[in-house]
Amino acid sequence: MTELGPVAWPPAPIKTERLVLREPEARDRAAVIELLASPEVGTYLGGPRPRDELEREMPGAPSPRPGLFIVDLDGAMIGQITLYKETGHLPQAAGKAELGYLFLPEAWGRGYAAEACAAALDWFTGALPGEPVVLATQTANVRSMRLAAKLGFIEVERFEAYGAEQWFGVRSSVTPSG
Ligand SMILES: CC(C)(COP(=O)(O)OP(=O)(O)OC[C@H]1O[C@@H](n2cnc3c(N)ncnc32)[C@H](O)[C@@H]1OP(=O)(O)O)[C@@H](O)C(=O)NCCC(=O)NCCS
Repeated sequence: MTELGPVAWPPAPIKTERLVLREPEARDRAAVIELLASPEVGTYLGGPRPRDELEREMPGAPSPRPGLFIVDLDGAMIGQITLYKETGHLPQAAGKAELGYLFLPEAWGRGYAAEACAAALDWFTGALPGEPVVLATQTANVRSMRLAAKLGFIEVERFEAYGAEQWFGVRSSVTPSG
């Protein structure tokens, strides 16, 4: 994975109707571990990470990184969004910004992921005009497939990888969000 590119980072916190997208802080540590260790969250992502491993890896505050947004509802983290330029995991995504979204299960079903991702994509379009964003998800991940469509991602291809059918889509910056 590489850094996001020629963008000023971090941006000022991004406020939506209900949420704030911001840098990670020390108070997010427990929620980040909860997120990555959650069996529900990990269902279509190769499984959850062992909690003790996460505790060891993250002795203090979660590390900030260009392209990583913590999604905050009323002062508490409910999820994270990533916009990273990938080099490794899928050849189709190489060199392109890839959207990732992980939300705590108690925050699902309220439209928070859609609201936060739309804001992150708007920020990206402003920061890197004309650059497409790609997205890969398992087709069995119904919630993720619905979200990708809602955000304006268009299917490029489906393929088998990691023992499952994968969906690969692209969103051009001229596609309206929301
Ligand atoms: C993928 C994921 C982010 C989707 O979360 P989500 O909450 O379903 O997504 P949205 O924000 O689009 O919310 C849609 C739901 O909110 C409901 N909703 C409630 N209030 C709403 C509002 N004010 N506005 C919009 N939708 C609202 C919608 O009706 C819909 O409900 P439904 O799922 O029962 O049909 C979540 O399931 C997740 O974190 N999964 C684990 C991680 C993962 O697999 N990520 C994919 C990696 S590529």
